[in-house]
Amino acid sequence: EQIKKGNYDHFMQKEIHEQPQSLTTTMRGRLKGKSVILGGLKDDIKTIRHSRRIIFIGCGTSYNAALAARPFLEELSGIPVTMEIASDLLDRQGPVYREDTAVFVSQSGETADTLLALDYALENGALCVGITNTVSSTLARKTHCGVHINAGCEIGVASTKAYTSQIVVMIMLALDIGDDKVSTKQRRETIIDGLYNLPNIVREVLKLDTAMKDLAESLMDEKSLLVFGRGYNYATALEGALKVKEVALTHSEGLLAGEMKHGPLALVDETLPVIVIATRDGCFSKQQSVIQQLHARKGRLIVMCSQGDVSLACSTGFCRSIEVPQVEDCLQTVINIIPLQLLSYHLTVLRGYDVDQPRNLAKSVTTQ
Ligand code: G6P
Repeated sequence: EQIKKGNYDHFMQKEIHEQPQSLTTTMRGRLKGKSVILGGLKDDIKTIRHSRRIIFIGCGTSYNAALAARPFLEELSGIPVTMEIASDLLDRQGPVYREDTAVFVSQSGETADTLLALDYALENGALCVGITNTVSSTLARKTHCGVHINAGCEIGVASTKAYTSQIVVMIMLALDIGDDKVSTKQRRETIIDGLYNLPNIVREVLKLDTAMKDLAESLMDEKSLLVFGRGYNYATALEGALKVKEVALTHSEGLLAGEMKHGPLALVDETLPVIVIATRDGCFSKQQSVIQQLHARKGRLIVMCSQGDVSLACSTGFCRSIEVPQVEDCLQTVINIIPLQLLSYHLTVLRGYDVDQPRNLAKSVTTQ
């Protein structure tokens, strides 16, 4: 086992640091010049383009990855994209139609709720697409078509490298679906250039490791942590909070910043740490006003901003900052989650908990 961990103390740590390579293998053979080719979808891509609705279905981190890709898929396809947590779709027996494309996202391809939701969607006649890390998994076998994320074996119970590879696959899915539209050609090409360069930027953001350890030291005795995001980075807020919860066993909530005034603001005081994700994108000015309002309530802020933006992002009061390299808006979620993965890893080690096997949790939840 130690050999498999190489120079790392834990699998989660290894898997976080492997992301430049795992993302490279995810994209290998799929970016051709200025276009994307997903071989597993070639017979079905036209049907997907003509579907009335795309439904993303998953659990845990896989659901969050789909949420991160949703805005870009909506933008490029023009098709309504709805989100379903697998168990909730089953609990409601929500409507699924023949004109729908149901995209199932699962690292293991064996999560019970996701597989039951797949059976349900198949019965209802939807085109079912699988996005999984496990070749020959039940999900891969039962779906009509799909894409393997090729992130390599993930051992840590808390998913890290699979998350970023899942996002990249769904960004490539959006690029493939939108490939026939002249109006978005320029935008698609910019994102494809961004994809080629993404592993290098991931390598750069991983250098925040020591800074995240320092931040973890300052948060070690905290009982609770809030993470605010919006737009693309609503998913980052949910996923960052999930990581802290599942491995560092610290209460943590990912919140939509647009909902701040509808409840969460009541929790804010000088003691509760609050992470605000405010990297540059279409939501930047709205996030600046969120920071201003949190400062006015004397919030204890940790602001994640684009490199060089600290004075702007924290202009209304003191905050700790996490500066990350800026990339294209829809790829920024891949970069922004990495400091939060590192933070949750270091918090867990400092608190003395089991990193790779958090209590009560399983890598693959095969029962309902
Ligand atoms: C478990 C794991 C999570 C994972 C979730 C969904 O809860 O601990 O890391 O995100 O299952 O798993 P899947 O294999 O379907 O992506």
